[in-house]
Amino acid sequence: MDSFVIEGGRRLEGRLRVNGSKNAALPLMAASLLTDAPLVLRDVPRLADIANMARLLTELGVEVEQSENAGDDAPRDFTLTTRSTDESHARYDIVRTMRASVCVLGPMLARRGQARVSMPGGCAIGERPVDLHLRGLRALGANIELDGGDIIATAPAGGRLRGSTIFLGGAFGSTVLGTANVMCAATLAEGVTIIESAACEPEIVDLARLLTAMGARITGAGSPRILIEGVDALGAADHTVIADRIEAGTLCCAAAITNGSLELENFPLDALLAVVDRLEAVGVKIEPIDNPTDADRLRRVVRVTSDRSLRPVSVTTQPHPGFPTDCQAQLMALLCFAEGNSVVTEKIFPDRFLHVAELTRMGATLVRQGATVVVSGVKELRGAPVMASDLRASAGLVLAGLAARGTTTVNRVYHLDRGYDRLETKLASCGAAIERRKESES
Ligand code: EPZ
Repeated sequence: MDSFVIEGGRRLEGRLRVNGSKNAALPLMAASLLTDAPLVLRDVPRLADIANMARLLTELGVEVEQSENAGDDAPRDFTLTTRSTDESHARYDIVRTMRASVCVLGPMLARRGQARVSMPGGCAIGERPVDLHLRGLRALGANIELDGGDIIATAPAGGRLRGSTIFLGGAFGSTVLGTANVMCAATLAEGVTIIESAACEPEIVDLARLLTAMGARITGAGSPRILIEGVDALGAADHTVIADRIEAGTLCCAAAITNGSLELENFPLDALLAVVDRLEAVGVKIEPIDNPTDADRLRRVVRVTSDRSLRPVSVTTQPHPGFPTDCQAQLMALLCFAEGNSVVTEKIFPDRFLHVAELTRMGATLVRQGATVVVSGVKELRGAPVMASDLRASAGLVLAGLAARGTTTVNRVYHLDRGYDRLETKLASCGAAIERRKESES
């Protein structure tokens, strides 16, 4: 398995473009199951999770074409066309490699009247149940059974789901992929569906935009109440994926932790206000440098710089528009260098702290109690071999390595490759001393 070798202490300076969003692209790709017409998705990042979703959709009868002419560094355009509906089983082999495979459930059930999807297991960041997905689909009239580790979902007699009013909140708030599943399913249901306590994440808004372009009738996406009027069929669409707010937040932390200066294009400023708020409290400046009159608020150009002395902050992860759990590890790495005590509380995945023990090995002073970590700032971190089996925890360790004294080796970077398109190349182009070491070389 590949690793990154990082010589810390280099200041980052330069200009980077934020990729299309992984977490938006996955449910967008799954929406291809809702129609036989071609779906064109642009600016899809080159990631292992995207390749897994393409493989899964291919097994489910979708022809997946990728743009040929793009160079190695260019994002991809995909054309997805359902050619056959014979196979409706998302097998364990694929689902276990990527939990997000569960987002084929709603579209497949709505269009084919049945779906069999291996039940996703837990993962490094916690238990991750799918009870809310199932509750929502049951409310639309689906019969749901479990057999041999698979979820078997069947539409009512006649093969069509029925619109309904559904409360989709759970103990940890709303569910992003659960909302995506139920919203997709409701587009083809008979009658009106109201999803209450829907996820408000920008990825849900992007999915609603795509579905609307395909002919769905959806209002309220981005708010906790989404209303969907079912239609008989959906058609073709051409859609550009929103920019990845988590990659954007990670790059902001990279600029700040190296006391550098980065210009970031395709920056989804409006989707990242909670992160900007906390970073500004720490002493990081994120200023738009494009022309505000003609700028798309989700595709700005910003300059990120930071004060030499960083201030400690309190931060609590929450559903959008609160601070995203997917940026918690990266901010914690930065807070290791703040002058004083910061408090980080994780309210979405209370065990998502795989980076804590590894940062401690690098000299961080962290005390965890339950879902809260107190970070006492230190003068320096020291390079060390580290590893974490969560993608964002790994990103936090890369950031720590950029700022640490000496050499940090981040092992098993395939976790990072699931969510960051060649992060090392991007960082190296701005002055970081970071190299990928192939498994065969180590
Ligand atoms: C999405 O996962 C993202 N994944 C995650 O990003 C992200 O961390 C998460 O949303 C929260 O923002 C994708 O979009 C592919 P949830 P999802 O359902 O939808 C509980 C990354 O690093 N819950 O919104 O699976 C759940 O346990 C990944 O890119 C239930 O109780 O997350 C959690 O506490 C990791 N029952 C909370 O809700 C359910 O049926 C939010 O989870 C579903 C969820």
